Amino acid sequence: MSNKTFHIQTFGCAMNEHDSETIAGLLSEMGYESTEQKKEASVAIINTCSVRDNADKRFFGTLGQLKKIKEMNPDFTVCVCGCMMQQQHVIDTVKQKYPWVDIIFGTHNIHQFPKLLESVLGEKQKMVDVWDDGGDIVEGLPVKRQFAHKALVNIMFGCNNFCTYCIVPYTRGRERSRHSEEILAEVRELVRDGVQEITLLGQNVNSYQGDVDFAGLIRKLNEVEGLERIRFMTSHPKDISEELIRAYQDCHKLCNHIHLPVQAGSNRVLERMNRKYTREHYLDLIRKFRETRPDIAITTDIIVGFPGETEEDFQDTLSLVREVEYDSAFTFLYSVRKGTPAEKYEDQVPEDIKHERFNRLVDLMNELSLKKNKALEGQVASVLVEGTSKTKEDTLTGRTEGFKTVNFKGPKDIIGTIVPVRITEGKTFNLEGIFIEK
Ligand code: SAH
Ligand code: SF4
Ligand code: F3S
Repeated sequence: MSNKTFHIQTFGCAMNEHDSETIAGLLSEMGYESTEQKKEASVAIINTCSVRDNADKRFFGTLGQLKKIKEMNPDFTVCVCGCMMQQQHVIDTVKQKYPWVDIIFGTHNIHQFPKLLESVLGEKQKMVDVWDDGGDIVEGLPVKRQFAHKALVNIMFGCNNFCTYCIVPYTRGRERSRHSEEILAEVRELVRDGVQEITLLGQNVNSYQGDVDFAGLIRKLNEVEGLERIRFMTSHPKDISEELIRAYQDCHKLCNHIHLPVQAGSNRVLERMNRKYTREHYLDLIRKFRETRPDIAITTDIIVGFPGETEEDFQDTLSLVREVEYDSAFTFLYSVRKGTPAEKYEDQVPEDIKHERFNRLVDLMNELSLKKNKALEGQVASVLVEGTSKTKEDTLTGRTEGFKTVNFKGPKDIIGTIVPVRITEGKTFNLEGIFIEK
């Protein structure tokens, strides 16, 4: 085949983004080049997410579009993978309603994709290969990174927590951690390649248990010469250790930010969610983080309208949000997931009440984000410059340690470096600044 190009569309979290980087790496090794245009690709891959119903819907919408391309070009190979494919009912639907899909694979056998693709191309037949669980971690897969100066690094896979609303434990299998030496070797290689900032990835990074624990891993990474910034996503409040809080004191490369999903402010709801911590414990953690790093940025995830949530429970969420004064939050409407315990709960909250609460929470969050961002006006932030702004060609954009986007004017040759920027205006969703030349 002469045209060897691929197009990947990714839904979902950073874990999926990174899996797509691996798929791109594998395809590049096979001699494929990436293209922005689906129509021009010889291989299209959709990497799916199943965390909420709207992600499912968007996937089926996208598949519908691909059908038209397939009709015009029978050699167009369509592959679907990711979390949705780890559910039998989804595979059944794809096979029934979209029989022209060529390859279905899962989250646990990405490394086998080249073999699947070769046999499908050679034998002109369809292929479904999805594994139930992860088995041993496959090291050394090629990665084609999206960004030159920051990189995603898996440290653990899977989740053992079974929060009652969540599909992830069913799509990503049980927890497995990489050996710290493998992680360190990867990070050193990334740094040699120009990476300044790494984000350690896992569904529950702070339950990482390789040859060292999570705080131990951070301490080792903090020693890597040339590495400037360490972030991680996502941590679970029940597994925040005293050692991790101490690491914030000692490890200066650890960014001044923690994303700590709270999900709800009511103990009754937290219990029914199987979160295994209380509001009081969570607030105590926040206090300890702030004692250690007084100006740490704190962000969170919140679900509104979990089954049985009363107005009083929701008020507990609002009051917790006010008390913590988050820098920002991802807020979600509860979405029923097939096969999870909460699907069976009979006291589902009516849609209109969910939406009304959601809007109140978003209003409060926006008020707090604006307040937090305004408080930064006049301060100098260190910013990793990521590129030019999507909307204004002459404006650069980057992130502070606190994970806030800053837009400012400056020369293009500072892209990929960490520079001082004076914050001139704090807005609800980002900051404006002035580049301070040395
Ligand atoms: N492992 C991470 C995040 C997993 S999914 C963690 O535990 O923090 C990211 C977020 O999606 C979750 O934090 C939760 O807020 C949200 N989420 C997960 N399942 C959901 C559901 N069924 N409905 C609405 N939001 C959900
Ligand atoms: Fe889902 Fe809970 Fe695991 Fe996060 S910790 S992935 S919310 S089950
Ligand atoms: Fe979605 Fe799977 Fe991530 S369900 S949020 S892509 S782990």
